[in-house]
Amino acid sequence: MIFESNIEILDSTLREGEQTPGVSFTIDEKIAIAKALDVFGVDFIELGHPGVSPDVYEAVEVLNELDLNAKKVAHGRAVNSDINDAVAIGVPWMGMFFGTSPLSLKHKFNVTKSEALKRIESAVKYGKDKGLKLRFTAEDASRTDIDFLIQVGQMVQNCGVDRFSLADTVGCLTPAKTTELVSRIVSEMDIPIHVHCHNDFGMATANALSALEAGARCIDVAVSGLGERCGLPRLAEVTVALTELYDVRGKWNLGQLPQLSKLVDSASRLEPNANQPIIGKNAFTHKAGLHVKAVVKEPQSYEAISPESVHRKRHLVIDKYTGKAALKNRLETMGMSVSEQELDTILKEIKYHPEKVAWEDEELRRII
Ligand code: COA
Ligand code: ZN
Repeated sequence: MIFESNIEILDSTLREGEQTPGVSFTIDEKIAIAKALDVFGVDFIELGHPGVSPDVYEAVEVLNELDLNAKKVAHGRAVNSDINDAVAIGVPWMGMFFGTSPLSLKHKFNVTKSEALKRIESAVKYGKDKGLKLRFTAEDASRTDIDFLIQVGQMVQNCGVDRFSLADTVGCLTPAKTTELVSRIVSEMDIPIHVHCHNDFGMATANALSALEAGARCIDVAVSGLGERCGLPRLAEVTVALTELYDVRGKWNLGQLPQLSKLVDSASRLEPNANQPIIGKNAFTHKAGLHVKAVVKEPQSYEAISPESVHRKRHLVIDKYTGKAALKNRLETMGMSVSEQELDTILKEIKYHPEKVAWEDEELRRII
């Protein structure tokens, strides 16, 4: 499937990413991350919610001064104080949200649908009067009654809102449900649709891609999938999948991904997952004998993309799963040639040491 070239990515590492339990970025870290995201080529960068704390407010001020190609967005509630913050800082875009599901209306706001519509209308009109570009997010859209969701969308559109965003706040969509929801909303609206997916069932990336297939303009991501609870779709997976599986070419500097992930992982101080696609330690590492043998001959046998395309390297592990061909290949790269019988003996020795999960060259030399 080939998308129109105008699909967009909004990166929320600095906003929702900082809502990850255990994470608080310094302003210098935020500056470095914003610059790296811009070099990578995202379309929108959420700078933060100024109303959260003085340091977030200051960070949004400082980040807003950076010379970036990406559109800068301040996050905030549908309340005048948050709108005033965005205006005072001078951020061009505000991402304004209001929970529209029955749960939000009842338990968060204790309002009826018509009261909610009035509050939303008053806030978006206030924001537009102040000259902001507005993305309005229906928080918990996936658990909102569809007719009410359309009513909210059309109302904010009539008030001049620039983008309408659907948040799958607790990650309860599936790809098929995402397609149904987004197609319906796209058919009922004229302004571009954004989708914000959560990963509570591990489907955030699949749902986000389904949203684009169904006609959404923009999806939200975070580096390393940071965010509340199980986080958002990962920037790396989304952009590499769009490039490789959907043939969206030339939009992003994919070679920046390892550097960008390292930067965010070091600032978040969270352990990166070894088996994370694209940037995880194991993403281009092969182990079982059969796999290594095939990869040495033809890497595509067990690689969906080449490691070089994302500035990574291929690794071949030697342990008890190693086969003869893989060991022979490794010894050859070490400049050693051994007889078939010696190869069998070395392999036997390796297989008698299940506790060793990655034999180094020096250790192999020692057995030989
Ligand atoms: N739009 C309008 N009003 C909202 C709102 C929204 N989206 N969300 C909450 N409010 C109202 C609440 O109903 C409450 O009103 P009340 O005082 O009349 O009861 C008031 O705002 C304060 O609620 P809340 O924001 O929950 O206050 P708090 O002091 O506990 O928390 C923040 C303040 C800034 C820390 C909090 O808003 C926050 O965590 N923001 C960042 C997270 C976020 O934006 N999450 C949602 C999207 S992922
Ligand atoms: Zn979220």
